[in-house]
Amino acid sequence: MQTTLLLLSGLLLAGAAQAKTCALTIGSNDQMQFDQAELKLAADCTTVELTLKHTGTLPATAMGHNWVLTETSAMRSVALAGMNAGAAAGYVKPGDERVLAATPVIGGGASSKISFSTAKLTKGGDYSFFCSFPGHWNVMKGKLVFG
Ligand code: CU
Repeated sequence: MQTTLLLLSGLLLAGAAQAKTCALTIGSNDQMQFDQAELKLAADCTTVELTLKHTGTLPATAMGHNWVLTETSAMRSVALAGMNAGAAAGYVKPGDERVLAATPVIGGGASSKISFSTAKLTKGGDYSFFCSFPGHWNVMKGKLVFG
């Protein structure tokens, strides 16, 4: 009995030790740009804390930005679905399971921080991030490398 308890607590400790939160920060501006074309996530990251900053001054209605993560193959269709979902939905179709993570749309001077698990990501997979504000996704995009 005691051995079992020891074993269990040992497993719990091992599990806790394996959890690793990794912070990513990306900037955006009034020129419709992200400041990085590639974000790297180490293979042992279990949770991601992503901060999106908007260093511009234009309001979200004119130059709003968000950060949306999908498999690269889904990027275009998710962006178009988001555009159709409209501003009230933050340009992300509600319940879209292809969306692995997304921040709200922010305007100049604002920032947004989200946290998501890497459980849905496969190491070495082909992932892209982009801004789903109408007209932005084809310019404001980059790769997320996991592993
Ligand atoms: Cu944008």
